[in-house]
Amino acid sequence: MDLLLLEKALVGMFVTIVVAISISKIKGKRFNLPPGPIPIPIFGNWLQVGDDLNHHNLRELAKRFGDILLLRMGQRNLVVVSSPELAKEVLHTQGVEFGSRTRNVVFDIFTDKGQDMVFTVYGEHWRKMRRIMTVPFFTNKVVQQNRLGWEEEAAIVVEDLRNNLEASTTGVVLRKRLQLLMYNNMYRMMFDKRFDNMEDPLFNKLKLINAERSRLSQSFDYNYGDFIPILRPFLTRYLNNCKDVKERRLRLFKDHFVDERRRLIGTMSKKKLVGGVKCAIDHIVEAQENGEITEDNVLFIVENINVAAIETTLWSMEWAIAELVNHPNIQSKVRDELDSVLKDGVQITEPDIRNLPYLQAVIKETLRLRMAIPLLVPHMNLQDAKLGGYDIPAESKILVNAWWLANNPDHWNKPQEFRPERFLEEEENVEPSGNDFRYLPFGAGRRSCPGIILALPILAITLGRLLQNFELMPPPGQSKIDTTEKPGQFSLQIFNHSTIVAKPRSL
Ligand code: HEM
Repeated sequence: MDLLLLEKALVGMFVTIVVAISISKIKGKRFNLPPGPIPIPIFGNWLQVGDDLNHHNLRELAKRFGDILLLRMGQRNLVVVSSPELAKEVLHTQGVEFGSRTRNVVFDIFTDKGQDMVFTVYGEHWRKMRRIMTVPFFTNKVVQQNRLGWEEEAAIVVEDLRNNLEASTTGVVLRKRLQLLMYNNMYRMMFDKRFDNMEDPLFNKLKLINAERSRLSQSFDYNYGDFIPILRPFLTRYLNNCKDVKERRLRLFKDHFVDERRRLIGTMSKKKLVGGVKCAIDHIVEAQENGEITEDNVLFIVENINVAAIETTLWSMEWAIAELVNHPNIQSKVRDELDSVLKDGVQITEPDIRNLPYLQAVIKETLRLRMAIPLLVPHMNLQDAKLGGYDIPAESKILVNAWWLANNPDHWNKPQEFRPERFLEEEENVEPSGNDFRYLPFGAGRRSCPGIILALPILAITLGRLLQNFELMPPPGQSKIDTTEKPGQFSLQIFNHSTIVAKPRSL
């Protein structure tokens, strides 16, 4: 009897396996997948295409396989989109279907499986986080409340450079000072806190731990364990290191900023609190006290601002300065515009920006040629989906090669040239807000960058003040500064932080 049962069980198992294999084969055949290199078992295309899937390498693959292509990276599907029409489909027409984010083993740790806003899937949590972050961060009222702070920070940079003889002779690495400016812009906004100088120990702690987080998350070293799950045990040490950095980083945000602000608020009278201007974290903590989000969510909002706001804006500033140093004629043109619109050395403020079209064009052109996040933040479809006539299996990582869309000679006139005039001439109606799917420096649609409302005025105020007060030049003996790109797949950064001479103008 027992033997009969065993026999039946074995036959049952056999039949189940055969049926499962047949179904999966039929299902596999049913998929009309996008073109791409032929994958090999286990590794997929990984050994063929390598680790470095940056915007240039993906452009080359698009030239071979077309505007939509599929790569199998071990167990993971990666779809690359390289035409404005398909970008529109992903970001706008099917914005809900493709509105989620993928995470890998490392981002799972750094975001606690999507407890933040940037890396969470499209759904209730994302909607709540976006709503809670909008009032303190992403409105015109916020810009008006904070612009005096941004103008002041830019004025202090100007003063520091004027007082530094080295800046006007051999030159300084301007980026270092602008990094302090960006931390101050955002930490004033978040916590009403600023760092006095580049030696400030807390500023240095933050800088270091943020850099460590970026290094660990952007490295290729963990790809093998992410792509091929059976190899994951070999990543244990790496992942433990990530956990340690994550813990220390969140603790730093909590102990030195969030809790300190809570204590300060606790000591303020109700009247003072209502009458005074709240800083961003006050709104976020309020949402926590109302039970809308957890304390961890509060810390992840601080984490997202540290990564999404400070770094991207700083890279764009650095690229704009590099291009202006290497194109002195364009630099003079911006300065002439500033002088003629503002007159008598009046310093640029936020309301002036709308009267400075050439300065705006320089910023747009920088964001086109040197797009800070060239592949956007990866999108993902939770369910099986269709794109460009192909089937896209559920949970594929979708990369929109936004850099190539904005630098493809089929769509742009001499795209390799830094020519701001294009945005006043043939491309005058193209805006960074995503009204043209050839130009998406901030993405478009539901998951587009909400920080655009802050980034553009911060860039204009800072660059405007620098150009009003200084002539920016390469160091003595050099005719240009190096604009080599830093290798890396998530961002487009300048490789060398160049020394720049800031020669004061007599006002
Ligand atoms: C020049 C500066 C900046 C650039 C180029 C930039 C670019 C981008 C891009 C390309 C995305 C992804 C869009 C997509 O996946 O479709 C993004 C997302 C995001 N950015 Fe920015 N950004 C900048 C500044 C900022 C600032 C200043 C903040 C905040 C204060 C910010 C907050 C965010 C957030 C929260 C997201 C995630 C949105 C979501 O997933 O729903 N960014 N940004």
